[in-house]
Order: sequence, then structure tokens, then C-alpha cells
Amino acid sequence: MRLGTRLPTVLLLVSAVLCQDKAGPHRCPPRCLCYKFLPHVSCRRKNIREISPHLPQSTKQLDYSNNNIKSVPDFIFSKMDRLEELNLNKNMLTEGGITQFSFLGLYNLGKLYLANNDFGVISRSMFQHLSRLKYLDLAGNRIYSVELDAFYYLRNLQSLVMKYDNPRAPLPSSALHITTLRLLRLYGRMPQKTVPRGLFAYLYNVEYIELFDMSIRRVDRDLIYGSQKLWGISMDMNKLRDLPEDLFRYNKNLKSISLSFNRFRDIPMAVKRVTWLENLYFNGNPVRMLTPQSFEGLGELKLLHIGAIPGLVTISRTFFLNVPNLEFLSLSGNRRLSKIHQDAMLYVPKLKMLSMDRCNLTSLDKSTLSGGYLRVVSMENNPWSCDCGLKWLTEFLTGEEKVRVTSKEDITCSKPKRLAGMKLEQVPPNEFIVAESRC
Ligand SMILES: *[C@@H]1O[C@H](CO)[C@@H](O)[C@H](O)[C@H]1NC(C)=O
Repeated sequence: MRLGTRLPTVLLLVSAVLCQDKAGPHRCPPRCLCYKFLPHVSCRRKNIREISPHLPQSTKQLDYSNNNIKSVPDFIFSKMDRLEELNLNKNMLTEGGITQFSFLGLYNLGKLYLANNDFGVISRSMFQHLSRLKYLDLAGNRIYSVELDAFYYLRNLQSLVMKYDNPRAPLPSSALHITTLRLLRLYGRMPQKTVPRGLFAYLYNVEYIELFDMSIRRVDRDLIYGSQKLWGISMDMNKLRDLPEDLFRYNKNLKSISLSFNRFRDIPMAVKRVTWLENLYFNGNPVRMLTPQSFEGLGELKLLHIGAIPGLVTISRTFFLNVPNLEFLSLSGNRRLSKIHQDAMLYVPKLKMLSMDRCNLTSLDKSTLSGGYLRVVSMENNPWSCDCGLKWLTEFLTGEEKVRVTSKEDITCSKPKRLAGMKLEQVPPNEFIVAESRC
């Protein structure tokens, strides 16, 4: 198996050397790397200013990323109808450097990477000849204007990643009339700190929407009403305090909601109404208190991330009462969390993964890690008190447990003083005896 995966790599390297600067009609462009048995051409990070007019016509993947290219000349790809993937990330491209003829001939192009360039305006003509395109990456640009129906010609577009950054003019709702779209990742700034009405109205087939770090304060109750195939929505790093209660009323396939690092003071009712929800990411919200009632209605939940919540000090006995199907639980980064009730995990018998690193835990009951399905645990960077109460953990860490504990070397004692800084798994058993006579 090992040899099987390595052998082609060796061959590629050998053939790459053989093909470099080879003469002939299909020669490898200067400074680029070509392969004998693979139709890939890599001209990555070579200080190149212009795309070569003599590219091998059989090329399927072309990488010109990390160069200084300012424009894509007209007709340069006119004979490249086999090209499937074109990477122009991290160059100096602007809207002025791309015309309606720049991509002419790329009839089979499926993926186009234009991230980290200098585009300000996206116009309809740019992508006129890319009807097969499925994936378009426009991240890391400073796009302040998107023409009406800008993606009109992209009849097969499935994934769009775009930074739209204009606090003065909203993205026009017709900009995203892309009924074929399945994945949308949007970030940047928009005016009024809200998502324009109807922006997603035509995303009938979208399965995943991400609105990342856009300073959004409010969303409309009809934001995603047409997206019945929506599987996941992520609105991390915004300024949301609440959501319209019936926001998800038509999204019967929604399984994953991510609202981390917003301004929620409790789990919003809109989320609790998605009784079929499986994943909830809710880290870093200024919640004062989480109670069993916070999770009411979420009986199908399998994954729950409630880390970095300032109000989470104790996990009470019945904390997980309403989420009995939980398999993945993260409490990481709850800097004030100092107690997990010894019976709390009995309410989540299917738990497979538990993260409680970077909390304020000094002790832990053995029953917390005794669930029959538990496989992975993290608990480093807590002020563990290495006394009688934790003796079992040393044995647990060094024993042949089915549970994998990550970053064991960072599980250290804070107390008693004499053991401070020592790795818990290295504390000799007799130290516990000395620490407290009860052991
Ligand atoms: C962590 O717990 C200790 C008591 O064990 C407390 O004095 C301290 O304030 C707690 N830290 C935080 C950040 O809450």
C-alpha cells in the first residue's frame, strides 16, 4: 500500500525533470514544471508577469498562483479546451485585466481560482465563456461592486467563495441568481449590518451557506425561505443578538447551525425550533447561564460546541437532560468552568468525544470518562489539583484504555505546590499518598 502510493510520486519527479524546458510545439513554458505522465503544468511562485502563450494544449491543470500577473490576454486560452482547473490565486489581477475574451476557449474549465487578487468589480462579461465552471473562488479580493446578474453565464456553478467588501452599497439581490449553487461562502462588509432582502431568494439548491465575519446584526425572517435543501448554515463572527423565531421554518433538511462568536445571550428560539438539528456550534457567545432548558427541543443533537462561554461555571447533574443523543461535545476554552457534576455524563451515554481543555477544572470524577462509547478526550491546560481525587486519572492516562487522551504532556498539576507544573501521568503513585493520608 505504502509503495503503491509512493511510486507515482517518484515517477512524477523524474518525469518533471525530463520535461522541463523541452522544445517542440507542446513544450513546457519557461520556468514552469511539466510532467510526462500527467497533464499538469505548474508555474507557481516564479515571479512570472505574463501567462505563456505556448502552453501545452493537453494541459488539464494549470497553476500560475503566487506570481505577479496583472492581466489575462484575450484568446490566450483559445486552444486550451482540455483545461479543467486554472489557478490564478495570489496575483495582481484587476477587472481591467480581464475581458470577455480572456477565458474564451476554456469550455471544460470546472474550477477557477482567483482568490487574493485586486478585483474591485465583478462584471457579467468576465465569465461569459465558462459555462462548465463549477467552482469559483473570489476570496481575498476587495470587491465593492457586483454587476446585476454577474454570474449569469455560469450555468453550472455549484460553489462560490467571495469577499464582498462595501459598507456603502449592498450586494444587489440579483447578484446571486444562481439556481445551481450548492455552496456559498461570503465574507466582508455590507451596509446596514444586515443581509439584503432577497439576496438568497434564488438559491433553491443551496446546501451550505456561510456568512463569515460580516458584522451582521440582523437577518430577515425570509433570508433562506426558498432553500429547502439547505443542510448547514454558518454565521460565525458576526454581531447577532437574536434571530427571527421562524427563520428556519422551511428548512426541513437543516442539520447544522453555527453561530459561534456572536452576541447571543441564550440559544435562540429559532434554533430550538429546529427539532431535527444535529450539529450546533455556539462557542464564544456572552451567555450568562446555560441550563437544561437552553437545549429544549434539541433531542436529535449529536454535536454541541459550547466553548469560550463566560457564564459557564458548572455543568450541573441534569445539564444534558434534553440532549440524550449527543456524540461530540466540546467545552474547550470555558475559562471559568470549574466543575462537572459526577453524574452529568450519565445523561449522554452515546458520547464519543469530549473536549474540556483550557477550562478551570481542578478535579474530575472517574465516571465522566466511563461512557461505553467514549473514544477521544482532551483535558489539557486545566489547573488540575493532583491529590487523592485525581489518582485514578494518572492510572487512566498510563493504562491501556480504549479512550485516547490528546496532548497528555500538557495535562499538568497546579496543586499541590510541590507538584506544580509536573505532568500528571508522571506523578508517582506514592506522591498521592504523601499528598493526603486518605489515599
Ligand atoms: C478558577 O477557579 C478558581 C477557584 O478554584 C477561582 O479562584 C478562579 O477565579 C477561577 N478562574 C476564573 C477565570 O474564573
